[in-house]
Amino acid sequence: MHVDHVEETVELAGRPLTLLRPASADELIDEQAFDDDEFLPYWAELWPSGVALARAVAELDLRGSRVLELGTGLGLPSLAAALCGADVLATDWADEAVELLRLNAARNRVGLRVDRVRWDDPALLLGEAPWALVLGADLLYERRNADQLLELLPRLGADVLLADPGRPFTKGFLERAATLWRIETTPDVELPSGGLHRLRLR
Ligand SMILES: C[S@@+](CC[C@H](N)C(=O)[O-])C[C@H]1O[C@@H](n2cnc3c(N)ncnc32)[C@H](O)[C@@H]1O
Repeated sequence: MHVDHVEETVELAGRPLTLLRPASADELIDEQAFDDDEFLPYWAELWPSGVALARAVAELDLRGSRVLELGTGLGLPSLAAALCGADVLATDWADEAVELLRLNAARNRVGLRVDRVRWDDPALLLGEAPWALVLGADLLYERRNADQLLELLPRLGADVLLADPGRPFTKGFLERAATLWRIETTPDVELPSGGLHRLRLR
């Protein structure tokens, strides 16, 4: 399938990056992929949570830290973490997201690893656990996501930073997560109905 891209400039950690993204996420809808996995091309949009998380990450001292991002999409938080000196693995289950983030990182000379991983088959992530920091932006928009992440996150590391716009499943996710994690929520201008949630294992 031919995909038209647009280029936009985003400043991260004090550096302007020029990023390609699909001109229209709707054009990427694949009925077969939806039938197989209820897969929708959410990876192709620049969501406010991705922007908010990237800005928050850019403020952290991550030199030498091993950082994992789940559901990276266009990968802003991972790019920010890499620019802050972290050793980053960005992951998504969408092949196109993985390919485009590799291309965008190379075009901007940012060093990071990108791999295709789905949360119900996380062997690659567990093989490298524990991660110093696990990142995720706008991942809680379906019940199955909340269920899978509740089970997976404690196996990946003890420090998780999530950005969320206030999705319907987030409240229940945080309530259930609170039995295992200490949770600190910070408001963010990009996320008026949500915020940044820092989860630390008790
Ligand atoms: C709403 S998008 C957010 C993308 C990006 N984090 C952002 O904020 O711009 C959700 C992302 O999670 C990925 N995703 C959804 N379910 C997944 C799963 N089971 N395993 C891995 N990635 C998944 C999607 O492909 C998509 O990139």
